[in-house]
Amino acid sequence: MAILVPGGAGYIGSHIVHELLDRGEEVVVADNLQTGHRAAVHPDAEFYQGDIRDRAFLDSLFGRKRFVAVVHFAANSLVGESVRNPLKYYDNNLGGAIALLDVMLRHGVHHIVFSSSAAAYGEPENIPILEDDRTLPVNPYGETKLAVEKLLRWLSRATPLRHAALRYFNAAGAHSRGDIGEDHSPETHLIPLVLQVANGKCADIGIFGDDYPTPDGTCVRDYIHVADLADAHIRAMRHLASGGSGGVFNLGNGVGFSVREVVEKARKVTGHPIPARIRPGRKGDPAQLVASNAKSERELGFKPSHSGLEEIIASAWNWHKRHPNGFAG
Ligand code: UFG
Repeated sequence: MAILVPGGAGYIGSHIVHELLDRGEEVVVADNLQTGHRAAVHPDAEFYQGDIRDRAFLDSLFGRKRFVAVVHFAANSLVGESVRNPLKYYDNNLGGAIALLDVMLRHGVHHIVFSSSAAAYGEPENIPILEDDRTLPVNPYGETKLAVEKLLRWLSRATPLRHAALRYFNAAGAHSRGDIGEDHSPETHLIPLVLQVANGKCADIGIFGDDYPTPDGTCVRDYIHVADLADAHIRAMRHLASGGSGGVFNLGNGVGFSVREVVEKARKVTGHPIPARIRPGRKGDPAQLVASNAKSERELGFKPSHSGLEEIIASAWNWHKRHPNGFAG
């Protein structure tokens, strides 16, 4: 029986596909390639180009194969764009999930691992953040992730569907083989942007705000290696398969690093001076986001194994220095 991965051509999805295949699973990827890359899809995965809002496309996939589970990544994920264009996010992220869940239920597929986000919390009340802390998203991206989580919860009461919603903190790093990594267009994330400076593609990195209530005044984030995320997805699938109760799980390292610390570590890893300039803070950026992994550790046995910032940045650099133009070369 196969595993369906909608969004398996994207940054995080493609890493999970590689991991599933390495562990001997049969994998089918569905992706509309709106933001994903065909070259990111492992050659041993079966690939279908299509949109999950298209129920006829999904029906044809589910008619062709028997899926044991769905690991769902297909979504738009730019926070700023979601503020400018909420309809796009509700349509694709929520509309896509509704179509997918409808088709899953009609075909009797009852296990889903859902790619959620720390954006579901909004401005946190406590650090580290626990899964049952307040969820008050401050942008439509986070709202759509939370809306899908709520839909999953209601469905788990009304139907045999069971889910694990994984709230990622800041995904970073690349595959150890160096052939897949992060390639967003436009790129908005700190680590790839810092490495673009080291690659000579930008003159400097803007540090968004230095007057936050943090030790050095810059925002603190919890960076988690994409290989650890991949491992957590497989644990979540096994948890559901063995009758686990599912629910919401944080995925982070449980350790925060400031923007300045990231830039400093990237200088060390790349040997490039990486000039930095202080810019105004970005609207809606919480000062600190750090996960508590206690529940994921307790219930999924999850423990990050690439937790050092230097290791995470070195892994990202291994991809970016060899692929300065991402999948385009
Ligand atoms: N930052 C800069 N300069 C840049 C880019 C980012 O200083 O050029 C700062 C941001 O202000 C933030 C930190 O670096 O403090 C990390 O920013 P990212 O854009 O890399 O990541 P975010 O923390 O904003 O976003 C991440 C995920 C989102 C998710 C969010 C949860 O990428 O998908 O966490 O809040 F929604």
